[in-house]
Amino acid sequence: EMDGFVDDLMSQMTIEEKIGQLNLITPGGGIPTGSAVSTDVEAKIIEGKVGGIFGVTGPEKVRQAQTLAVERSRLKIPMLFGSDVIHGYKTVFPIPLGLSASWDMAMIEKTARVAAEEATADGLNWNFSPMVDISRDARWGRVAEGGGEDPYLGSQIARAMVRGYQGDDLTAANTMMATVKHFALYGAPEGGRDYNTVDMSRIRMFNDYFPPFLAAIEEGAGSIMTSFNDVDGVPASANKWLLTDILRDRWDFDGFVVSDYTSVNEMVDHGLGDLQAVSALALKAGLDMDMVGEGFLTTLKNSLDEGTVSEEAINKACRRILQAKYQLGLFDDPYRYIDDSRPENRILTEANRSFARDVAARSAVLLKNANQTLPLGRHTRIALVGPLANNKNNMLGTWAVSGDPQMSVPLLEGLQKSLGTNARIQYAKGANISDDPAFAEKVNVFGTRIDIDERSPELMLREALTMANSSDVIVAVVGEASEMSGESSSRSDITLPENQKKLVRALAQTGKPLVLVIMSGRPLALEEENELADALLLTWHAGIEAGNGIADVLLGVYNPSGKLTMTFPRNVGQTPIYYNQRVTGRPNPGDEFQKFRSNYLDVPNSPLFAFGYGLSYTSFEYSDVVIDETSIQPDGQLKASVKVTNTGDFEGEEVVQLYIRDVIRSLTPPVKELKAFEKINLKPGESKEVTFTLNVDDLAFYHQDLRLAAESGDFKVFIGPNSDTDNSTDFRLEE
Ligand code: IFM
Repeated sequence: EMDGFVDDLMSQMTIEEKIGQLNLITPGGGIPTGSAVSTDVEAKIIEGKVGGIFGVTGPEKVRQAQTLAVERSRLKIPMLFGSDVIHGYKTVFPIPLGLSASWDMAMIEKTARVAAEEATADGLNWNFSPMVDISRDARWGRVAEGGGEDPYLGSQIARAMVRGYQGDDLTAANTMMATVKHFALYGAPEGGRDYNTVDMSRIRMFNDYFPPFLAAIEEGAGSIMTSFNDVDGVPASANKWLLTDILRDRWDFDGFVVSDYTSVNEMVDHGLGDLQAVSALALKAGLDMDMVGEGFLTTLKNSLDEGTVSEEAINKACRRILQAKYQLGLFDDPYRYIDDSRPENRILTEANRSFARDVAARSAVLLKNANQTLPLGRHTRIALVGPLANNKNNMLGTWAVSGDPQMSVPLLEGLQKSLGTNARIQYAKGANISDDPAFAEKVNVFGTRIDIDERSPELMLREALTMANSSDVIVAVVGEASEMSGESSSRSDITLPENQKKLVRALAQTGKPLVLVIMSGRPLALEEENELADALLLTWHAGIEAGNGIADVLLGVYNPSGKLTMTFPRNVGQTPIYYNQRVTGRPNPGDEFQKFRSNYLDVPNSPLFAFGYGLSYTSFEYSDVVIDETSIQPDGQLKASVKVTNTGDFEGEEVVQLYIRDVIRSLTPPVKELKAFEKINLKPGESKEVTFTLNVDDLAFYHQDLRLAAESGDFKVFIGPNSDTDNSTDFRLEE
């Protein structure tokens, strides 16, 4: 039915109208993240030169724009309405890296569902999310936006988010098309510098970086976005190997491919030719839609006339855009997402906010809790200090373009509300996020602000210390401003800014119990803070309900259960650092330096906090790993189980993690690979048996010829609380 409809429509289209469908514009209502913003938007829509538009929201504006397309353009083809709805729409959830730390796929799916409910209520039907780039280098600012370093976990998250956005009926007025991004390898720029060149072996691409994309595609993601970087020396937006050989021929992707913002034009700077040449290359490689740069719109006709692109290539791309519109039901009713009553009833509802509060609590990771400093007693005298303790401008985190920072709840407010009349809180800012106005200037974008206090740093510090000295416990909220991570926010130094370090040192000197609440968009190097503080609670940028959710954790209303999904290095020199590194011929598994082994002179190989690590207010004990068979037949399976017991005083959740090690194989194996996990809840004293099933597919890996296959022989299976576990047993895969 769809094919017939699209055939018929295309038979009526001029070549200019077909090329028009490949054009994605923004009138600048979203956030312009490049040097260009579209012009003459209205005229272009009427002339049939626009396939999709982004940054236009709200029933009224969306209706206005759609009306131009479906009433005033010749063929009345409706437009796609896109946006970056990355971690919630107006109900902003924690940054995606924070969400991933929950290891709770049902919850992550629900965040995407709520985001789609709200975004579609504002007229949107297409989302530039999920971002599934594997990231192993904390210097790269966009680690904030993904699910961390692991391909297996990343794949589960990719699936959950696609399901959440798209539901099971794309034509429903509360579902939207997902875009899995950025294809490919955007998370691996050299030096962690955003947009930088990438060079990577194909076995690494296939084993580590591609799996979340494939998972999202299998889950039915309707579109995919190219990345800014090059791959094998060819920019992704013109990389035929990526966009056709892999995406279409190998993975059978039948959605459409959109470029990133002006990434077609940027291939001129990449050195591939002028705008006409690079646009032709992109189309021929398999790109369907050109975001903002209008290379397609302004040059494809010339290339067709000159014979450098074929009409067939233009038809193919146009067909895919029209198919997407058909799948969204836009030809039946171009206004189906537009309903004036929905924003008020669906956006930022009490239910959504209370869910966001829960999500904020569930994304926090307890990194240290000496002497059971946490949870705090309700009558404790709290000195609440730090530049992020009462700072609405930095709660939402990066890429929260639809959120209103002023609607967010900082921790001061959250604690006051939770404690009510019991509250014995004294608040002092203590320090600025940074004292450097030039640095502040760079990150004061998209609603983020570093406000530098008029008072001198010395005075602010003195005030905080006075309060600290008359308290029972200090809670210092420190970390990054929202835009210190995110796009174009790479850092070569991933410690706390020096003036915040000073604050932490001075607070530690008071001898009072010191809790650090750390808000960041990336792993920070926290070695010194880990030594100075009694407790460390990592909350990321926790979204609109940050303060309420974090108060719930600090007060023990919610017992933290988050686990890291990126390794936390001891210092920046260890990056890139990730748990599933391949073995070397000269390993040094210990922390003592050994000459002629693979290690550093000045820092151990181990990270400060391992992938999968996170504490609870209670404690969990793991039994030995038990397997039901000592070997797996090629068509068989094996069950591996442990008994986990809550040995502490609090009810709590634990993420039980299963890793394998392929002991002998033809390609150097990763030291460990996550293959399964389960989040369980245990009451004090309660035990649960957790059983995982492994089969040959779980043991398979991509070989040099890119064939996916397992190799028979010896394996280890580990089950434990994090990637550092040595709780394991051996098994074999039979031939
Ligand atoms: O979707 C984003 C992308 O992730 C980065 N560049 C801009 C796009 C549209 O806002």
